[in-house]
Amino acid sequence: MHDHKITTDFTIFENIDELSSTQKKLLLKAIEIRDHAYAPYSRFSVGAAVLMENGEIFTGNNQENAAYPSGICAERVAIWTAMASLPQGRIKKIFISARSDKTVVDQPVAPCGACRQAIAEYETRQKENIEIFFTGEKGKIVKSNSIKDLLPWMFDNSMLS
Ligand code: THU
Repeated sequence: MHDHKITTDFTIFENIDELSSTQKKLLLKAIEIRDHAYAPYSRFSVGAAVLMENGEIFTGNNQENAAYPSGICAERVAIWTAMASLPQGRIKKIFISARSDKTVVDQPVAPCGACRQAIAEYETRQKENIEIFFTGEKGKIVKSNSIKDLLPWMFDNSMLS
């Protein structure tokens, strides 16, 4: 028997001013689409912007439903829109921003488990890391260099063979 420890790496930016101009542009895209989310039930709006290898940017926001589980997160809307449009495309970066009508979201909002699994699918397929940046409405921005840092021991297609 052996005990093991998994450590994960991430970078924290204190605020948007610490981002490069490209990073800032992508975060602003995520913020812009966030504010068009359809979130009448949770009042919690999320936006995501995906940068593809060819330079195209795709965005998405959460879309809720009166039948709650039929809603979908921003990240998956953005990723699937990108991959539907560019089926052979490679994802370089994803930026995520969240805000609430009820409170000021001043801590980073990480992607949910289902969205991490969706990101993992494409990172595994393209064999190139996807950078993931996530934040709230204001304050710190967390950068992860790979989904592996957010989803250790992830399930992927190697387990199906
Ligand atoms: N939500 C996202 O869009 N992304 C996440 O990663 C976490 C949660 C949405 C789903 C739901 O519409 C609302 O936020 C509250 O959970």
